[in-house]
Amino acid sequence: MIKLDYTFMTEGAVAGGIADETLSLAEESFSAARAAVWRRWKGGELGFFDLPDDEQQVRHCLDLARWVSDRGVRDVVVLGIGGSALGPIALRTALLSPAWNAMSAADRDGHPCLHVLDNVDPATMASLLDRLDLGATLFVVTSKSGGTAETMAQYLVVRGRLDAAGRAARDHVVVVTDAEKGALRRIARDEQIPAMAVPPNVGGRFSVLSPVGLLPAALAGVDVADLLRGAADMRRRCESDTWTTNPAGAFSVLQWLADTQLGRRGHVFMPYADGLRDMAAWFVQLWAESLGKVRSDGAHVGPTPIAALGATDQHSQVQLFMEGPNDKTVTFLTVAGGGADLAIPVIHAELPDLSYLGGHSLGELLAVEQRSTSGALAARGRMNMTLSLERLDAWHIGGLIMLLEIATAFAGELYGVNAFDQPGVELGKRFTYGMFGRPGFESDLAAWDALPKPDPRRVV
Ligand code: PA5
Repeated sequence: MIKLDYTFMTEGAVAGGIADETLSLAEESFSAARAAVWRRWKGGELGFFDLPDDEQQVRHCLDLARWVSDRGVRDVVVLGIGGSALGPIALRTALLSPAWNAMSAADRDGHPCLHVLDNVDPATMASLLDRLDLGATLFVVTSKSGGTAETMAQYLVVRGRLDAAGRAARDHVVVVTDAEKGALRRIARDEQIPAMAVPPNVGGRFSVLSPVGLLPAALAGVDVADLLRGAADMRRRCESDTWTTNPAGAFSVLQWLADTQLGRRGHVFMPYADGLRDMAAWFVQLWAESLGKVRSDGAHVGPTPIAALGATDQHSQVQLFMEGPNDKTVTFLTVAGGGADLAIPVIHAELPDLSYLGGHSLGELLAVEQRSTSGALAARGRMNMTLSLERLDAWHIGGLIMLLEIATAFAGELYGVNAFDQPGVELGKRFTYGMFGRPGFESDLAAWDALPKPDPRRVV
């Protein structure tokens, strides 16, 4: 079960929280937002809703997992960026052991190590490539568009190494890309490289339940069918036309009201579980790239998502959340149980600084610290809510992903923006193409050259 407790977002529990009247007024806005999202889904625009029903993609992932296992692949390396990397990373951290890549093959049940390269920092890439046995490595090149500069550059580096070692790309590369379009699809077609398709109506940051996330997860032995079952169950819960009975509705309405009515522009996402640390990074991209937009009336809108981790950030960012500007909400993400726990032994009973800990467990301490932080924030008029997962498993993670994706779609409508494009990232890309001499981008190079250059008087 996944539950959202938003008591501490409301005025009855937190001074300055959302008033009952405002909550009731939101009913109409939510109903319109939900209807608009449903229309877009049924009109074929929002393919992420349909991913849980796609049994064929699961079969294809499992076929590739068998192919990989038959070839004795020891390392799988995902190449991608943005939505093509953050989802696979979040799934890996949530559903594989924290020590996965350091475990023996037997302890991994014969499944490969899983690496995700999500940047073009040569130091990171070289250090991984230099220690891999290329003969036992599979590269999953993931790009929905099939042409993203960073991913294509990574692919070319890998391809150079494979070619130099006399290894055929089709034995060591799988691509995940659009079914028809893009350079990557063309390469796959020309060279018979195994490929999986990302549906055309599924955007990058909404693609984690497509082969983008499912393939790496399946290669590492994650129960991807269960992941999709969890997502389908959550999708059902998010059908309700009333936000108070719709988890994604409640999440989006509360965040939107907190931002637009009460100036809580920062939306902190703070898991209390190391396994969910990268889910926060995934959420930051989803919320930021979907909602930070220029509205049709020219207004610049969108909350600023902030990733944090409990209990670690209690000794870092929480001071700011408690006493800095009251311009944030905090969403805690907790796991009720079912995982590993460690008993804290009763040692040094004579020292009061330690003796109160003995006889409890680390899991207990983490859970109590989360409740304490939530209560402390509320006591200082800091709005917060808690999303709790009963367990950290594939079903719950699928449900969480679907909840947050649907919430983002609702929030797009509430803010009055299209949550499914990202026009703001284009200009920087065009400057890069211009500086790299890519044909067709000469005017962008000229625009770049016309920009003010560093003024020596302004450089220290
Ligand atoms: O959400 C998005 O659409 C982006 O963050 C993309 O995922 C990112 O730019 C990578 O794009 P692609 O998968 O086409 O390489």
